[in-house]
Amino acid sequence: MSNSSSQDLRAVLWTASADGPALSLIDQTALPHALARVEVRTVDELVDAIVRLVVRGAPAIGAAGAYGVALALVQGEREGWNRARLDAEVARIRAARPTAVNLMASVDRVAPRVDEGLDAVLAEAHAVVDEDLKANHAMGAYGADWLLARVGVDRPLRVLTHCNTGALATAGWGTALGVIRELHRRGRLETVYADETRPLLQGARLTAWELAQEGIPHFVQADSAAAGTILRGEVDAAVVGADRIAANGDTANKVGTVGIALACAYARIPFVVAAPTTTVDLATASGDGIRIELRGEDEVLSWAGVRTAPAASRGHNPAFDVTPGELVSALVTERGVREVSAGEMPVVG
Ligand code: MRU
Repeated sequence: MSNSSSQDLRAVLWTASADGPALSLIDQTALPHALARVEVRTVDELVDAIVRLVVRGAPAIGAAGAYGVALALVQGEREGWNRARLDAEVARIRAARPTAVNLMASVDRVAPRVDEGLDAVLAEAHAVVDEDLKANHAMGAYGADWLLARVGVDRPLRVLTHCNTGALATAGWGTALGVIRELHRRGRLETVYADETRPLLQGARLTAWELAQEGIPHFVQADSAAAGTILRGEVDAAVVGADRIAANGDTANKVGTVGIALACAYARIPFVVAAPTTTVDLATASGDGIRIELRGEDEVLSWAGVRTAPAASRGHNPAFDVTPGELVSALVTERGVREVSAGEMPVVG
């Protein structure tokens, strides 16, 4: 395993090796046991990588989708596709996962450049990635400033997070984990409570790995521990990412997020969403319009390939949930911080 700092990781990279251009992805299914990259050369391989969460996290799949248009163009030239086939393959990439708006938005941004050729497509895809990296660093600073002012204590902060929102989930650095990194960089972070994130353990496998790489103190806890940890007063704030934010502030994020928001509202501590403006979907009025990915039943009925539930049981496996906008104390984007209703949380009257 590499000892290099995880903040410098690039989960999604366009490469041009002797074997021709390819999309190089950190295989996030292999972490934390191995830091390995896979090279993707076809649309089939890319769609499979997105579906299996080899690459995951809203901005990272946005980057993969952007480069996916280039990949489809190269494959199409190699295999003699006509324009209709190319469009159909690009549409398949766009639809590989339904919830994170970054995937479709990136594909829609890059695809119109196809007629200008590969260099133009790649320039647009690189811009998607560069802008995300810059946005993450801006969010880190805005979010850390806001949290320190809002929590208003002299001691370092105890922050809870859910799923993985770090370098692995983005073009680099991270959204919510970028805020946490920035607090640590300023010497203002005591510890992180990293929810394990059932059923695929993005928190235990990926967030904890990123934190451990940098020596950031943290606990991994079961998702079901989060509400109790918050209500016992062991957490100063929760900071999470987002897969899609509707126009009214309703926020889709990894399943389990809404329970954290409710606990924060009850405990009257900040529940902060950190996400780039590319995750805001003004075309969707409210959370009711966000399609929630339903994943395979086996992910909740089995563990490490061994069936854990009775053979007769069915599995219910939504990958995301929607937190009502009024539970979000602050939305941190690269443009700054937007507080919701001056911190009033109607759920607790
Ligand atoms: O299913 P995943 O691992 O792609 O889900 C990821 C999340 O829910 C993240 O919290 C979200 O994409 C924000 S990543 C900066």
